[in-house]
Amino acid sequence: MEETPGARDWTAVDRYFEALVAPDEAVRAAAVAQQAGGLPDIAVAPNQGKLLHLLAAATGARRVLEIGTLGGYSTLWLARALPPDGRVTTLELDPAHAAVARSSFERAGVADRVDVVVGPALASLDAMVEDGTEPFDLAFVDADKENLAPYVERCLALLRPGALIVVDNVVREGAVVDAAHPDPRVQGVRRMVELLTGHPRLDTTVVQTVGTKGWDGFALARVLP
Ligand SMILES: C[S@@+](CC[C@H](N)C(=O)[O-])C[C@H]1O[C@@H](n2cnc3c(N)ncnc32)[C@H](O)[C@@H]1O
Repeated sequence: MEETPGARDWTAVDRYFEALVAPDEAVRAAAVAQQAGGLPDIAVAPNQGKLLHLLAAATGARRVLEIGTLGGYSTLWLARALPPDGRVTTLELDPAHAAVARSSFERAGVADRVDVVVGPALASLDAMVEDGTEPFDLAFVDADKENLAPYVERCLALLRPGALIVVDNVVREGAVVDAAHPDPRVQGVRRMVELLTGHPRLDTTVVQTVGTKGWDGFALARVLP
């Protein structure tokens, strides 16, 4: 088939669909605030945030767990999908990132339904397991990729049967297929894939994506009832 002009321009295609994705004013403001605050440009793209929002809404999620807050961009997309008594618990290592996120939650009027937990996520997750925290309906895993396998293991202890786990950045421009890749983040993804493959309690797929964030992808796993 002959290629049309711009057929490989992933950014142009994302922009074409922007009005359809339609982030609200507070979600847009959160993106601006994290850029102004000098945070790294590693948040999900608007269409990916909308996907998280739709997954949360479609599954009727009331309790959402997020690992990796940054400036709260994905958190806001998720919080906007929750019922009035819903909550997002979001875990962040860097207090400066957490501060930017909290300001955005205040501005968006969702601060009363978002708990930001500052510290290493593994320790925060272990504390939640120990405390017998009420089970979550959906988890979005988007922090240090080296720990993806232990994060998924902790999610299994913290999510209810039937819940969803979304894990971002698992394709890494195709590097994931290279068993000898020197990047520890790639090796972290590979260890998670080993854990997920044939797991008796998880049903999983992976979808590759292209767009403003380049070539990557996400894993979607359901905790089996
Ligand atoms: C990719 S960003 C999260 C982006 C955010 N989910 C979004 O899309 O808007 C990853 C975040 O995880 C945080 N992080 C890295 N290592 C962590 C750890 N061990 N525990 C908790 N957070 C961590 C980083 O500081 C960073 O803010």
